[in-house]
Amino acid sequence: DWTMAEFRQVKIAEIREQVGDGRVICGLSGGVDSAVAAVLIHEAIGDQLTCVFVDHGLMRLGEAEQVVSLFREHYGIKLVHVNAEERFLGGLAGLTDPEKKRKFIGGEFIAVFEEEAAKIGGADFLAQGTLYPDVIESVSFTGGPSVTIKSHHNVGGLPERMNMKLVEPLRELFKDEVRVLGKELGLPDIFVGRHPFPGPGLAIRIPGEVTKERCDILRKADAIYLEEIRTAGLYDAIWQAFAVLLPVRTVGVMGDYRTYDSVCALRAVTSTDGMTADIYPFDATFLSRVATRIINEVKGINRVVYDYTSKPPGTIEWE
Ligand code: XMP
Repeated sequence: DWTMAEFRQVKIAEIREQVGDGRVICGLSGGVDSAVAAVLIHEAIGDQLTCVFVDHGLMRLGEAEQVVSLFREHYGIKLVHVNAEERFLGGLAGLTDPEKKRKFIGGEFIAVFEEEAAKIGGADFLAQGTLYPDVIESVSFTGGPSVTIKSHHNVGGLPERMNMKLVEPLRELFKDEVRVLGKELGLPDIFVGRHPFPGPGLAIRIPGEVTKERCDILRKADAIYLEEIRTAGLYDAIWQAFAVLLPVRTVGVMGDYRTYDSVCALRAVTSTDGMTADIYPFDATFLSRVATRIINEVKGINRVVYDYTSKPPGTIEWE
């Protein structure tokens, strides 16, 4: 049995040995995993690490700014912030199939990476915050047939042409262990305790075509939902909570007017590792408060529903 303090030291030694004098480039997604991986690697090799934050415009409200300030100002880690929103939204235009969306985003990430890596004069290693569940789930679904359920862009699709070796210091860890390690490394609580956020971002929470307008609508609804969850003191009891913007419009009435707007689904689950999950049983008062706020405050949404599906048979994300 090892403690996280020991794990940290063992990994630091391993990273130093693997990397030597090499240069490492690490993609930050805004999530806990890549953040913890980056901070751990930075502790091991300092300025040999450059982080690249590919801002695909699919982040939650205010999230991109938080990532940049934490890494640059707090940790003094070399960080390249690439604003690639137009590029990603451009490529997502017309795509509706979940795997096509995931594959485009994963591929585009790699393309942006290659460009940024070239700009900084190349790197020998690519660091990723891959966790144990990512490793197995991208191979097969537990107990099921050997099929890919979802292509995780932070694991699959990394072409050999990048000519970089992988550094994946979190490969043996589950999410709860990553959080402990993050605390150990001094990451702020709001960052460490943060709900998981998928690499493809809001694109997989907007079934159907992703547009800037739909991202903005979803960001507003999601921020209201999370604010209410925090206010109610429920954030830490929930593994993941988020809003989904459906490609379905329904008829409603507001005052004397007919409305014909999008449906927003709210998702909240408890889990220990993301591989199985149960729905979070909010009380009806809470849900109706959130629904009322979203409908009143977010133009473009006139109906809110709650997702009652556990995993399995559902997955946590909708795509
Ligand atoms: P699912 O939807 O497969 O998600 O039940 C399980 C957990 O993984 C997260 N997730 C991802 N994380 N890249 C990531 O880094 C991805 O492509 C990805 N897809 C899903 C999801 O948010 C949940 O925590």
